[in-house]
Amino acid sequence: MTGAPRPGVIERYRDFLPVGPATPRLTIGEGDTPLIRAPALERRIGGGEVWLKLEGCNPTGSFKDRGMALAAAKALEHGARVLICASTGNTAASAAAFGARAGVTTAVVIPARGVALGKIAQALIYGANVIAIQGSFDDGLAIVRSLAQRRGAALVNSVNPFRLEGQKTAAFEIVDVLGDAPDELYVPVGNAGNIAAYWQGFRAYQQADHADQLPVLRGFQAAGAAPIVAGRPVADPQTVASAIRIGNPANWKRAVQARDESRGAIQAVGDDAIVEAYRVLAAEEGIFVELASAVSVAGLLHRARSGASIGARAVCILTGAGLKDPGAAVRFAPEPTEVPATAAAVADALGWDSPPPA
Ligand SMILES: Cc1ncc(COP(=O)(O)O)c(C=O)c1O
Repeated sequence: MTGAPRPGVIERYRDFLPVGPATPRLTIGEGDTPLIRAPALERRIGGGEVWLKLEGCNPTGSFKDRGMALAAAKALEHGARVLICASTGNTAASAAAFGARAGVTTAVVIPARGVALGKIAQALIYGANVIAIQGSFDDGLAIVRSLAQRRGAALVNSVNPFRLEGQKTAAFEIVDVLGDAPDELYVPVGNAGNIAAYWQGFRAYQQADHADQLPVLRGFQAAGAAPIVAGRPVADPQTVASAIRIGNPANWKRAVQARDESRGAIQAVGDDAIVEAYRVLAAEEGIFVELASAVSVAGLLHRARSGASIGARAVCILTGAGLKDPGAAVRFAPEPTEVPATAAAVADALGWDSPPPA
């Protein structure tokens, strides 16, 4: 059996992207991620279809690869020699991977505290210059915005419009699989680029007659880092979901516009609800995501519990892979039991009857 080659998002969706003959078809195999049903969640919310878009299956383990493919390709097209970004970890990993692939330097600025180890490990092994600042993501973004003015540097945060152009391809894939847009889309919101990108994508596909309807967008922030919900920046954002520990989202206006145009909402969920969804996804669906990704499912469960009606077909975006942050899993899962190395001791620890003697 032979499989079709994975062309990457630029080649696959070139008719919907701002690319031309001079744009390198840069790819590390991003996109084409699984969209699967979630029977346990369907049982929990008591009806309707729930689908999970597994963006953690992208090559660096997060949705960032879609937008980074295009941002890096356009940077190369325009002669950039350096990619620079601020990051809570995933953007850094993705920028570093595409920088390596393209043969250019990548500089990433991360908060010195709170970034998941797996993400730092990725950025380092891909060969990026990793600078840890004694400050927040928001501080880092202000710094890289000023440094990116230098000749030859390209800013690849989601303030770069090509990032959103690339990320919108996830909306195309959802419609390509389901045959239309879902009724509702649940998305975690941090710097707020992804929710805006999905809206761009669904609208573009509808305008091209690939979809009849548009989804209602349901964005969720962590309660301790919910500036859009509060209506003002949060000076010291706090949440277990480190990827969305962001107090002043760069795409705030775009996200609010997308929310309003879709007649949706951006709401907050607490850390306890995020951890609960994180565990439910792993233990009942077999899907191990990072904490920030579980925010979409926490939002779905929260709405179902509060009696809100859920659309007949809901898609939850799972933005990143769980293995990026094994520390979180160890923290929130039961500890392994240590016993002597005998079958009897293992059977006893499992609560089984002792095995028969050999
Ligand atoms: C895993 C994960 N989920 C969600 C988000 C939020 O996406 P956005 O910043 O586009 O709102 C991020 C951002 O870093 C992320 O890394």
